Amino acid sequence: MKRVLVIGSGGQIGSELVPYLRKKYGKENVIATGRRTKLTDVVLEGGPCIYLDALNQESLKKVIYENQIEHVYHMASILSATGEKMPQTAWDINMNGLINVLEVSRRYGVERVIWPSSIAAFGPTTPQENAPNETILQPTTMYGITKVAGELLAEYYYKKYGLLTLSMRLPGIISSETQPGGGTTDYAVEIFYEAIKNKKYTCFLKEDTKLPMMYQPDCLKCHIDLAEKDESKFKRHVYNVTGMSFTAGELAAEIKKHIPEFTIGYKPDFRQEIADSWPKSLDDSLARKEWGWNPKYDLAAMTKDMLDKLSKRL
Ligand code: SER
Repeated sequence: MKRVLVIGSGGQIGSELVPYLRKKYGKENVIATGRRTKLTDVVLEGGPCIYLDALNQESLKKVIYENQIEHVYHMASILSATGEKMPQTAWDINMNGLINVLEVSRRYGVERVIWPSSIAAFGPTTPQENAPNETILQPTTMYGITKVAGELLAEYYYKKYGLLTLSMRLPGIISSETQPGGGTTDYAVEIFYEAIKNKKYTCFLKEDTKLPMMYQPDCLKCHIDLAEKDESKFKRHVYNVTGMSFTAGELAAEIKKHIPEFTIGYKPDFRQEIADSWPKSLDDSLARKEWGWNPKYDLAAMTKDMLDKLSKRL
């Protein structure tokens, strides 16, 4: 049984990662922490929860020391769209939060730090289709800049101090429990809520905008894989991972198969430029080959499951 810390448990991934990890390691072994975003009832009632600001190194030390933490999942981050509204804050939270986590983790003997990178690490000079694992990383958003710098920093901590850091470049994550906040791919979750509630949606990206995406069950599995697979499998510290790629129009068409009355309009805003700077699809063959990455959900399976889950709840 691992002793696990999840930083950022109120977020889109953290809120489902916590119950998932508690099932695996036992509820008393998974410490959920948050700061800004309210924790869900499932997280609050399912095991230990505490307030933690990753920018405060002393409180981070206390939690890691007192709980003898072995794995840290550092999920707290300002996403791409919010990052463009407050770039200095995004740098502060994303970079200073990460270096604190890495620093305290190596001092207190944490075994692994799982820290998601993003497709935002890529930029306009990256190949747009099947962006390779090793390629040009020249992002144009502050969020992307913190992801590239973070990838390098995490790898530095491995080389310099032997702290095992592992990152996956996550595409847009689609999930049914907690809505994302402040990202460019948020439309792909909002659209489901609006389709069920109002039968219409106005998308903030153009119809033909194609981006890599992944459904939450695959995303959670990916986190566990990085935490659990034998260290010898990892030939690098950062991996492309993807589940599917679709345009906004293709997603709308798939939803229409289930809700024929559904209509969509397009009103691109500042997020269009961010989306245009990212690749349309990723090559994740290294993750598949080296540690067996194998996502289950494609567009059709994800859409059906999202609609089933959300219709029951809304
Ligand atoms: N979902 C993120 C965003 O849109 C991408 O990592 O910012």
